[in-house]
Amino acid sequence: MAPRNIIIDTDPGQDDAVAILLALASPELNVLGITAVAGNVPLNLTQKNARIVCELAGFPETLVFAGCDTPLSRKLVTAEHVHGKTGLDGPQLDAPEMPLQDAHAVDWIIETCRAAQAKSITLCPLGPLTNIATALTRAPDIKDAIEEIVLMGGAYFAVGNITPAAEFNIYVDPEAAKIVFDAGLPLTVMPLDMTHKALTTKPRIDKFRQMGTTVGTMTAAWTDFFERFDMEKYGSEGAPLHDPTVIAYLINPDLFTGRQINVEIETQSELTLGMTVADWWGVTDRAPNCMFMGDLDAEGFYELLAERLATLQ
Ligand code: RIB
Ligand code: CA
Repeated sequence: MAPRNIIIDTDPGQDDAVAILLALASPELNVLGITAVAGNVPLNLTQKNARIVCELAGFPETLVFAGCDTPLSRKLVTAEHVHGKTGLDGPQLDAPEMPLQDAHAVDWIIETCRAAQAKSITLCPLGPLTNIATALTRAPDIKDAIEEIVLMGGAYFAVGNITPAAEFNIYVDPEAAKIVFDAGLPLTVMPLDMTHKALTTKPRIDKFRQMGTTVGTMTAAWTDFFERFDMEKYGSEGAPLHDPTVIAYLINPDLFTGRQINVEIETQSELTLGMTVADWWGVTDRAPNCMFMGDLDAEGFYELLAERLATLQ
């Protein structure tokens, strides 16, 4: 079977970094390119971090583009309190040598989709949805080329992680999220409800540490840094490893369970801005617009992650 063509839209972020490593290590996937967006840290860092990770994975030829540096109509909110000043705090990292592509990420997404076969590209947003929403607004015709959007974002039972009501990726650019959720494209959502069950427990992270490879050591150092914030906040035995669940879903969807439901995005109320109002119990007549994941086989997820990352140096 031919590898699945994907575009990863990302705001590295330690968990984004592990997602990129998993994608590059998986022959089922063909990473057409990586588009950076402002989110966890500003764009000048997310585009640099994306290149650092591609070089670490041994794929310096990967096309990396810089996209939008602010949300559609709001000030950027970042998350250095979680990811550190660089966005990839934890291990010492050298500056990347591989080039950043000249084209703007949104222009490249549009051009790539317009040149592609129908339903031949899967978009994998791991950060705020500004790039994706801008591309869909500027060139609605690109929908023909999009097979599916599989994104990390949102929360319902797990409630918010950046406000009491909202998950970070949606909160940073709720207007962009509304455009994506209203686009009428096949949409699969990996929310906190599920990612909070994918914890970086010590036995799981020790597997990366014991690989004896640079990738394994870096992954363990990133999760050691990244998890301290959530463990303190939730009192849990690890932190949710959010973004790699998007890539794991593409490789083995049976690891995840969810429901086809309606999800609307709050863009008016400052109190609940960015909330994903998920009709999990079907109490409205709103048409379902996404597969919203509620659970995963966490052991299976970490086994897949360890197996694939062990193939990198
Ligand atoms: O809320 C978690 C999400 O926000 C993850 O994608 C993390 O990387 C940050 O972007
Ligand atoms: Ca992210």
